[in-house]
Amino acid sequence: MYHFDTIKFFHTYLFDFKSNEKFNSLYGYAFEQPHRICARSHSPTPIGKVAGAAGTLSEIPRLGIPAMVVADGPAGLRISPKRKNDSTHTFYCTAFPVATLLASSWDTALVQKVGAAIGNEVHEYGVDILLAPGMNIHRNPLGGRNFEYYSEDPLVTGKITAAMVNGVQSNGVGVSIKHFAANNQETERSTINTLVTERTMREIYLQGFKIAVQSSNPWTVMSSYNKINGTMASESVDLLTNILRKDWGFQGFVMTDWFGGKNPVEQMKAGNDLLMPGTPSQLKKLAEAVASGQLSMDVLDNNVEHILNILLKTPTFQKYAFSNQPDLKSHAQIARAAASEGMVLLKNEQKTLPFSPKLQKIALFGNTSYNMITGGTGSGDVNEAYTVSMVQGFSNANLLIDNTLKDLYEPYIDKATKAFPKKKMFFEPDPVIPEYELDLSKIVIAAEANEVAVLTIGRNSGEFLDRKLEADYYLTATEKDLIKNVSEIFHAKGKKVVVLLNIGGVIETNSWSMYPDAILLAWQAGQESGNSIADVLTGKVNPSGKLATTFPKDYGHVPSANNFPGTPKEKPTEVIYKEGIYVGYRYYESFAVPVAYEFGYGQSYTTFNFKNLKLSDKKFGNQLTVTVDVTNTGTVAGKEVVQLYLTAPSKNLVKPAQELRGFAKTSLLQPNQTQTITLVLDAKSLTSFDEKQSAWIAEAGKYGIKIGSSSQKIQQTGTFSLEKERMVEKESKSLVPTAPIMELRK
Ligand code: BGC
Repeated sequence: MYHFDTIKFFHTYLFDFKSNEKFNSLYGYAFEQPHRICARSHSPTPIGKVAGAAGTLSEIPRLGIPAMVVADGPAGLRISPKRKNDSTHTFYCTAFPVATLLASSWDTALVQKVGAAIGNEVHEYGVDILLAPGMNIHRNPLGGRNFEYYSEDPLVTGKITAAMVNGVQSNGVGVSIKHFAANNQETERSTINTLVTERTMREIYLQGFKIAVQSSNPWTVMSSYNKINGTMASESVDLLTNILRKDWGFQGFVMTDWFGGKNPVEQMKAGNDLLMPGTPSQLKKLAEAVASGQLSMDVLDNNVEHILNILLKTPTFQKYAFSNQPDLKSHAQIARAAASEGMVLLKNEQKTLPFSPKLQKIALFGNTSYNMITGGTGSGDVNEAYTVSMVQGFSNANLLIDNTLKDLYEPYIDKATKAFPKKKMFFEPDPVIPEYELDLSKIVIAAEANEVAVLTIGRNSGEFLDRKLEADYYLTATEKDLIKNVSEIFHAKGKKVVVLLNIGGVIETNSWSMYPDAILLAWQAGQESGNSIADVLTGKVNPSGKLATTFPKDYGHVPSANNFPGTPKEKPTEVIYKEGIYVGYRYYESFAVPVAYEFGYGQSYTTFNFKNLKLSDKKFGNQLTVTVDVTNTGTVAGKEVVQLYLTAPSKNLVKPAQELRGFAKTSLLQPNQTQTITLVLDAKSLTSFDEKQSAWIAEAGKYGIKIGSSSQKIQQTGTFSLEKERMVEKESKSLVPTAPIMELRK
């Protein structure tokens, strides 16, 4: 559809265009030293159609190349809700639940539906590419952006991402799966050197991306800020060409993260096709490199071709007449339903939940009960039209809350909020309001006046910063006292206490979880939070979420605890992934480290039984079909997640005790109803990555299958064998560390 010459011309034009004044004013970015935190002006872009979108590409009218628009994600589309010179229209988007919650649903169909709704907003607001989903692995609970990512496990990450991508792209718009790769922390994110072995890279940090690329064909990939084994991700030929394109067959284009990388010439050569947002100095360097013969036009042609191939598919190129009126009402319903599907019931003694239909009055404790956190901060924050607070959600469900408590908390939060200092940068998170210190006498009065206590603990985080241990991962003394005191005082009156966790990432629970009767992990549930929480607490929705990330007993047990966020301590320059493949449950299960709540864990208001495990064969041929019957043995309808863990023989390669190799969610099963779940293991599911051969190898021997409702609640087991070792897939020799890395070994 275009000629070689045109492409060359496009580049020439691009240089001219981007180095002029207009370009400088196009991106209102400012850097704040010393942290290089960037703040976006979010003013309407001069040539951009969509105010508040993260980027608008250069248009070249003479060549018929229009300006493609890209905007953040991942919890929904991020654009400005209001525009200068337009007081009549608003441009709000739906704030869906955060990624961690969506992954906890283990429901790919549901995630696809959320993706389709987000994609519709992308399409109808005139955006071409959503800068989402984020899919880095939860390497450490303190990762500041973990809420934007799905899981500690690459299979869950890959499958949930693929579902999201398929949903978004079903609208004829694109995504940018990000941040490729091994971007597992915010501390020094643009300079940190991640040292990691080939095997760990392939099995843990690349595998999710591979699944997503191969099963959902994302239009674009966003390279990450960090270095991998000494080379910036955006300048890595191994990562962006050898692995992404040659090994995996990626067809789209690669863009940098905003201002990512150092050397634009190396970026172009590596196959990082687009520099975002693009600076005049980068273009100067490119032009000079072309002039000096250091960079060949063929390389640039290739980059441009990748971009134009996608551009042709965009609504902008196809002149789609977007409405600016997506169906926000129906999307709110999708957000509400999705949120309740991903909430995880961590504890429920003596059927504390769901509330009895006769329940009248609830004592609501904790700042966050009156100040819900619906999503994280930074580029992943969505500008929604409204949020349903817990107070509102409870009232919608005809639950009465104690007004005396409300009248203590609300003015306190109001006063603290008004005293917030002026933000130094656009994305600076609000300061944390210290937990209100409630007199014991007030708790006693509340315990008399109400039938149950609901106490919310909240945590927020976001781009630029990792979380801290004190007063973040660990609860503050005031929070712990509140949980203990409320529990003791309510229990003394024979009344129950429910703790709600309104958090984006893992926190410590072990030191206080014995006090309340029930704990619901509500995550950050999006704009319908209050309604979704009420739906679960009242039993309108039976919780079926399962942890896609482990809650360890203590931070010291986390396998990367001593190697996060890197060394030197003050300002890390490198981080060594010494735990290797032993991330999350792969570590806890292999080294028998007890955890607070294991991977895959989550309770229900009903019970399930698994039986009749059948394997299609005792010997592995090309694939193996595994079936199991799941029966709802309780008294209310519910859904269960069937998880398949594989224990592989270990002759030449060490193996984790078990690895998730398949999962499926049942439909809503009525009491006594049975569903047969079928999972298929292909040859790849048997493999581990052998660095010596740069290949995925299935070792000969006996394989153990464990079917469970969590990584520890194994209900059915079986075995099969593979007679001869098999090389299932050969890949390139890539991302080789420059010096040996001493990984954890069992
Ligand atoms: C973030 C990306 C985001 C981009 C554009 C960067 O700071 O890391 O996730 O897509 O900004 O807003």
